[in-house]
Amino acid sequence: MSMAFALKSDGTDDEEFLFERIAGDLHAQGWSVVPNALPIHISFAIFSQLQTSTDDAFAPAGVGRSVDHVIDPSIRRDEISWIEGITQAERDWLQWSDRLRIYLNRRLFLGLFSFESHFAHYRPGAFYRKHVDAFRNQPFKDGTNRVLSVVAYFNPDWLPEHGGELVMYDESGVHSIQSVAPEFGTLVVFLSEDVPHEVKPARRDRFSIAGWYRVNNSINQQIDPPR
Ligand code: OGA
Ligand code: MN
Repeated sequence: MSMAFALKSDGTDDEEFLFERIAGDLHAQGWSVVPNALPIHISFAIFSQLQTSTDDAFAPAGVGRSVDHVIDPSIRRDEISWIEGITQAERDWLQWSDRLRIYLNRRLFLGLFSFESHFAHYRPGAFYRKHVDAFRNQPFKDGTNRVLSVVAYFNPDWLPEHGGELVMYDESGVHSIQSVAPEFGTLVVFLSEDVPHEVKPARRDRFSIAGWYRVNNSINQQIDPPR
């Protein structure tokens, strides 16, 4: 029998290989950057949805949660649209994210419970100042209980002069550890509390999905609210 028959062609081997790489990177250093990571059919379906979506689907992004939520253009200028699984492309993304969640729970015992994600559109000039996605030891104060952040990019032919890099920093927030161009298909995963990061001003329209895996903070029958 030739080797070809021993290989699965449904992509599950590729997916396991990718998830294992992400798990290994997270375990070793707390972040992972993988070019051409998302399955191509999902990337293209999301891309074409973004191409045809209208501006009114997006709203200026805020900072803080619930009653502390404010729009502050000095901190961030992206426009966002939460992903609810309305289209097949969104459902494919959410299902893929859930398979990653289950894999990482099994592999790293992270106890990831739920997932939330939004599209983000950075117009030319838009940025997001250095921040962390969750604050250590303050799960009830800041209310996010975000453990793991994931960002996926949908910008073919992104060039250095287009700016818009995601720059990640060490825990001190002083030394940059990696700068990532938002190129189509690239995926970034990092521990939400441990990796300060910023989005440099983009000089071209820049589309991404940002998502967060959360642990469950429900207490006393009070369901932990999303967002
Ligand atoms: C975020 C964020 C990074 C990016 O939305 O919290 O950091 O590259 N996004 O879009
Ligand atoms: Mn962030």
